[in-house]
Amino acid sequence: MKKKISESLQPSYIELSRSALEENFSFLKDRAKNGVRISSVIKGNAYGHGISAFIPLAESCGIDHFSVFSADEAAGVLKFRSNMNTDVMIMGMIRDSELEWAVKNGIEFYLFEMERLNRAIEVGGKLKMKAKVHLQIESGMHRTGFERKDWDEVFRKIKNHPDEIELKGICTHYAGAESVANFFRIQNQNKTFKEALESAGEVFETIPSIHASSSAAFLTMPDKQYDMVRIGIAQYGFWPSRETYMHHAKANEFDEDHDPLRRVMTWKSEVMSTKWVKAGDFIGYGNVYMAGRDMRIATVPIGYTHGFGRNLTNSGYVLIRGERANVSGLVNMNMITVDITDIPGVEKGDEVVLIGHQGGDEITVASFGEMTNNLNYEILTRLPASIPRIVVD
Ligand SMILES: Cc1ncc(COP(=O)(O)O)c(C=O)c1O
Repeated sequence: MKKKISESLQPSYIELSRSALEENFSFLKDRAKNGVRISSVIKGNAYGHGISAFIPLAESCGIDHFSVFSADEAAGVLKFRSNMNTDVMIMGMIRDSELEWAVKNGIEFYLFEMERLNRAIEVGGKLKMKAKVHLQIESGMHRTGFERKDWDEVFRKIKNHPDEIELKGICTHYAGAESVANFFRIQNQNKTFKEALESAGEVFETIPSIHASSSAAFLTMPDKQYDMVRIGIAQYGFWPSRETYMHHAKANEFDEDHDPLRRVMTWKSEVMSTKWVKAGDFIGYGNVYMAGRDMRIATVPIGYTHGFGRNLTNSGYVLIRGERANVSGLVNMNMITVDITDIPGVEKGDEVVLIGHQGGDEITVASFGEMTNNLNYEILTRLPASIPRIVVD
């Protein structure tokens, strides 16, 4: 392992656990009703896990559909997929100028504007290939999606262009299924979505795939699975929110040891150097931290440039030899200093865990950011793409 890091010349690396991912998918598949397909959401560099390593890993767990936000991310799937039949779907940004490329490469994409539909028909006609589209319904999130007044026209236009357009699916997105506060909004959205499906049923004989749920709705509302679910955060081993976890925990009688989701990611670095500091001396820049006793400190070559936020100054911690070492002093651009006075025997080269398990302890992404679980998303996706990702068993 050490050899691989030094080959990359990077001061830290992220391990992806194959067994954790396998267990997560097996838990998710157990919850999916018969025939419901899981689309793995890998936008934001696979939520920081790194698409080049994550895509083949997910494929080895049986995944054959990926959802991304934009054309560049779809290109990443084409590059890193190991199975040529694996599908990719763009849920967001694709320029008119990119449609031809998408159609040629069999990339599925969301359709939420008449203009995009017209352009897709044009491109399909020009290439004599069908544009594979998922019709997005505006059900109440008010971000993107066809409004009710347009449904009939859109359905009929698609129906009338069978050589240019292939309807792959009809979909919507719930506005915050991870919180019970949004319950009524989600129920209303689902009602509208069902009405759209009814109208579509009057025009199309079959709709190949209907999908609406992301992790939170999937984990808490089994009646909304339809044919496919788009799973992001849960596959990586995180509950979308504390509420979602409580929903699961309640069904399992609050057995604390019964978290079936395992974190796939561990972020590691190593001790760069150690040093003794006398009581009364300041550590690092300015007077941010004064040694209250004779202290032994370790420098770790990680800083805010690597995603270790300055807000962790004097408050974050890392794991070394299975013990917590507090960040003592300002988080620098490339370095932190941590207190190892009470951890015997620490040496240069010792493994340092920044996120994940070491010994019997764990640094969660939430505690790493000192924020709520909801912000796992933001902290994960901010981890720089340049950190090497290594698959371990
Ligand atoms: C349209 C859409 N579907 C699915 C997801 C996956 O969500 P989650 O990570 O909560 O499973 C997202 C992520 O934000 C999304 O935008």
